[in-house]
Amino acid sequence: MSQSAWFAMPANVITHDPVLANEVAAWLDVSPGMTVVDGTFGAGGHATRLAELMQGRGAYVAIDRDPSVEPRARAFRAAHPDMAVRLMKRDFVDGFRSLAVEGVAADAILLDLGISSMQIDQPERGFSYAIDAPLDMRMDPRVEITAADLLATLSERELADVFARFGEERYARQISRAICRRRASRPYERSADLVDTIRRAIPTPAQFGSGHPAKRVFQALRIAVNDELTMVEQGLEAALQLLKPGGRIAVISFHSLEDRIVKERFRREAAPCSCPPDLPVCGCGRQATLRVLTPRVVRPGTAEVDRNPRSASSRLRVAERIAQPSQQEGR
Ligand SMILES: C[S@@+](CC[C@H](N)C(=O)[O-])C[C@H]1O[C@@H](n2cnc3c(N)ncnc32)[C@H](O)[C@@H]1O
Repeated sequence: MSQSAWFAMPANVITHDPVLANEVAAWLDVSPGMTVVDGTFGAGGHATRLAELMQGRGAYVAIDRDPSVEPRARAFRAAHPDMAVRLMKRDFVDGFRSLAVEGVAADAILLDLGISSMQIDQPERGFSYAIDAPLDMRMDPRVEITAADLLATLSERELADVFARFGEERYARQISRAICRRRASRPYERSADLVDTIRRAIPTPAQFGSGHPAKRVFQALRIAVNDELTMVEQGLEAALQLLKPGGRIAVISFHSLEDRIVKERFRREAAPCSCPPDLPVCGCGRQATLRVLTPRVVRPGTAEVDRNPRSASSRLRVAERIAQPSQQEGR
């Protein structure tokens, strides 16, 4: 699909209800004049909420790798004339790194991972197993490999690996075998063909288990096409370079693979000196760089899930940057 076709999509008529919006607002604790870096701007739902708390004053950096968010970002900028709003159309790893090089120091960073309702509801994007569409799944049209390309080129074993690792799909091997058998005569182009293969490959009772039978395979392909787990790992690393002492980072994830990366990274950064208490001088040199503010993951309440069923799998973790002793002295 050409890049101009992506811009032509009616993104402005599709709405996205920001998940855990009250919780994000409370934990990030933003105020007027702050610098907020939003790594996943999407439809700007969280941005609008945070800008209210900033009373329209301060700086807001809106990053998204999907160029179709541009009209939303422009509308957000127009609605907040007293705020320095900047749009970066690139992935958040790249965005955070270049902001750090420029010397930007963030008071708050938000990552609301995964895809937006806008993307799911644009049939041409091929994210949904519920709508027949080309098997694309790229968030960024500059990325060359689509889901159809992966289905055409990965070996049976590699496909099974993708479905098992990124989709935690129980029938990964059966599905990858069925895909390879079918693609020998006809390559996969449309999502309905893939859904049909999955249905035929899994045992009948599994078709009526939890959720749509193609859900996990679609998730796995989307993660692989967009290299999502690497993005989370590298994004957290880059975000920590950008965060001011006392600044906060909030991450919303939608499946356990992402959440595990966030939880472990936060835990590692929060680990203090590990020397035995009777050692007179620290020998490990380790200092905690983060304080975890949400020891237990934050989940949406039933009212939110009833209103917005897509929020059901969301989970939020928040941490605060700790000033190192040398930084504290200078403050
Ligand atoms: C769940 S939506 C964010 C919704 C947004 N918080 C709101 O309230 O409207 C996720 C967005 O992040 C973007 N995204 C996902 N991974 C990204 C990455 N690695 N770099 C930049 N943007 C990314 C997607 O294109 C999508 O627009």
